[in-house]
Amino acid sequence: MRTRRQPLRRARHILTRLTGSTRNRDSAPVPRKILITGASGGIGKALALRYAGPGKTLVLWGRNATRLEDAAAACRQRGARVHIRETDLANGHAALRAYREDDTATPFDTVILCAGLSDMKRMADKTERPETVLELGLVNYATPAALTMAAADRMQQRGGGSIALIGSAGANHDLPFAAGYGGSKAGLARFASSARIALAPLGVRLTLIAPGFVDTAMSRRIVGPTPFLITADAAASRIITALKRDLPEVVFPWPFLVLRLIDRLTPRPLREAVMRRISADQRPREH
Ligand SMILES: NC(=O)c1ccc[n+]([C@@H]2O[C@H](COP(=O)([O-])OP(=O)(O)OC[C@H]3O[C@@H](n4cnc5c(N)ncnc54)[C@H](OP(=O)(O)O)[C@@H]3O)[C@@H](O)[C@H]2O)c1
Repeated sequence: MRTRRQPLRRARHILTRLTGSTRNRDSAPVPRKILITGASGGIGKALALRYAGPGKTLVLWGRNATRLEDAAAACRQRGARVHIRETDLANGHAALRAYREDDTATPFDTVILCAGLSDMKRMADKTERPETVLELGLVNYATPAALTMAAADRMQQRGGGSIALIGSAGANHDLPFAAGYGGSKAGLARFASSARIALAPLGVRLTLIAPGFVDTAMSRRIVGPTPFLITADAAASRIITALKRDLPEVVFPWPFLVLRLIDRLTPRPLREAVMRRISADQRPREH
């Protein structure tokens, strides 16, 4: 029997096919030993809280000790065993050493590389700050990519595992006011789609998450509209489902999938003309 939901479902199916979102047949086993970077706030903390429970070991990374302790305490209250580590992902070599130490103590079945930074050119500036562009490249792209391979190597020796990389829907567009941020996340997206193919035969599943606006400290710095804003908890729920179903990539909420499709179908001169008119600004970071 046809229902009114059918056209919606079909539209979503067509969109999914057009954007290349196919999934492997095997769904992932229940995560028990989980590393989450960026767990001291926002989406990472929401993920930690959702995963926390008896029988779970969570290793939470962040930079701010107080916020990290708060997240750990809330997860322990839910019955999880929790370890924390303060680490700055701008130092990729230190992060790799930390990963290997933590994975030896807690052989991870699931790794969620959520930590990230955003930044935009301030209205008053002519160009983005070179030092910030470098930091964005390290924190959003280089270190998570290196950690992915470190995790994949350990996981394949144990028969497999799941990795999620948190990118951004912004990676699907040319953002003249945030070339450093958009470029770092676009690099991560290409890394994820390439590595997924390479790692699948080793039993390692890789999922790229590309959120639109999520209500966290990051989006609250934006001066201007944040359309289709969702909560960090809603984002965490989408990420957990994507990992469970071993999806290659998830863009949410759905209007950002439509925007990606429009971007792909729009000729470059028109796209450039539109993007030239869009301006954005952001308050300075608190830390
Ligand atoms: N919020 C959005 O609208 C949105 C949209 C698209 C994509 N995303 C992506 O989602 C992810 C999570 O962001 P969020 O919204 O949850 O932001 P958030 O609330 O600002 O949290 C960012 C997290 O990343 C950590 N972090 C930042 N720089 C770090 C560094 N150099 N070394 C180690 N950890 C670092 C922070 O740690 P400390 O607080 O301890 O420093 C914090 O735990 C990011 O990758 C972001 O790009 C967010």
